[in-house]
Amino acid sequence: MQLMKPLWRRISSQLVVSFRSQSRASSTISDPGSSTRTLVSNAEGDWPPRVLITGGLGQLGSNLAKELRKRYGVNNVVLSDIMKPTQKILANGPYAYADVLDVKHLHSLVVNYNIDWVVHFSALLSAIGEKDVTRALKVNIEGYHNIVEVCKSHNLRLFCPSTIGAFGPSSPRNPTPDVTIQRPRTIYGVSKVHVELLGEYYYYKYGVDFRSLRFPGVLSAGAPGGGTTDYAVHIFHDVIRTGEYKCFLREDTRLPMIYLPDCTKATIMALEAHPSVFHPEMRTYNIQGISFTPAELVEEMRKYFPNMKVTYEPDERQAIADTWPEVLDDTNARADWNWSHDYDLPKMVKEIVEKLSKST
Ligand SMILES: NC(=O)c1ccc[n+]([C@@H]2O[C@H](COP(=O)([O-])OP(=O)(O)OC[C@H]3O[C@@H](n4cnc5c(N)ncnc54)[C@H](O)[C@@H]3O)[C@@H](O)[C@H]2O)c1
Repeated sequence: MQLMKPLWRRISSQLVVSFRSQSRASSTISDPGSSTRTLVSNAEGDWPPRVLITGGLGQLGSNLAKELRKRYGVNNVVLSDIMKPTQKILANGPYAYADVLDVKHLHSLVVNYNIDWVVHFSALLSAIGEKDVTRALKVNIEGYHNIVEVCKSHNLRLFCPSTIGAFGPSSPRNPTPDVTIQRPRTIYGVSKVHVELLGEYYYYKYGVDFRSLRFPGVLSAGAPGGGTTDYAVHIFHDVIRTGEYKCFLREDTRLPMIYLPDCTKATIMALEAHPSVFHPEMRTYNIQGISFTPAELVEEMRKYFPNMKVTYEPDERQAIADTWPEVLDDTNARADWNWSHDYDLPKMVKEIVEKLSKST
């Protein structure tokens, strides 16, 4: 199903973007909970918004916090997790302990920090989730129930990512459209289909401003959180350290991936998009960056590490990867709110190698 948007809607989204650039210029930095922010009233509420990020110490959270703080002011973005933060994280802006299983505490954070938008990142990812299904059910489903209820009570915008793992063996794999069969075989995938459906239900029934993107595997120089696409990050660390890597997927396993700056860019675009740019029947969009196999990644990396040695020993994660899309069809995101990725495989490999070489 191709869900195209009339031209005027796309133009209106560009107008919103330029209006926002002006709004940002007038934002001020304030203490958490204080009323000193400059409020720029528009159709969508006060500007800049105050944002709470849950599960913020994982692979995606601190980069998003950094970019959002540039846009909305340091103290308007509250990072949270159940882990103890580093001194660097504490120095960068507000941080709070927040267990998504503790709904009373979530309410208190939203009230005390005067939160407008929630970015809900807390989750157990695919490989970790399969090892502890009970905990995955608790964090990914019960924790999410708490979050949607809090967003409903306080009228908050909610961004919660979904994943390529929300598709399964009966979904078309290349390309995988936005609207198709979703019968995943992991608890992670099942919980993310639940995220999509419950978010949409709360949107239609209660007007909760729920937005979601199905992210591919996210690549970054920093450590990933236990997913099936993590090989594409581990390989850089191991090759730089030892010259070798043992890959847990077959060399011909094609999966959709995205580089962290592109993932953060997509998140901010979806978070800030004017409500009118979304298709009336879509709250969840596919996002595609680059699809490649381990063999293609190795070929690109050989430009920097000509002697690198890679062996392939597929483990239980291969069975998960075999049920996932090879390429996501993100035509609708590109048409509706002008999504585009900036990094192809060579550009991404070059940047990760440069970053990791500097830090080792
Ligand atoms: N990284 C990827 O490749 C990828 C791909 C698709 C979708 N996503 C989604 O993006 C989001 C962020 O992913 P990530 O890679 O940063 O994950 P991650 O595993 O690196 O981080 C998740 C964070 O959740 C926290 N957490 C666990 N239990 C919690 C609880 N009870 N309360 C609060 N926090 C808790 C963990 O401490 C951790 O810091 C997730 O929802 C994930 O499903 C990630």
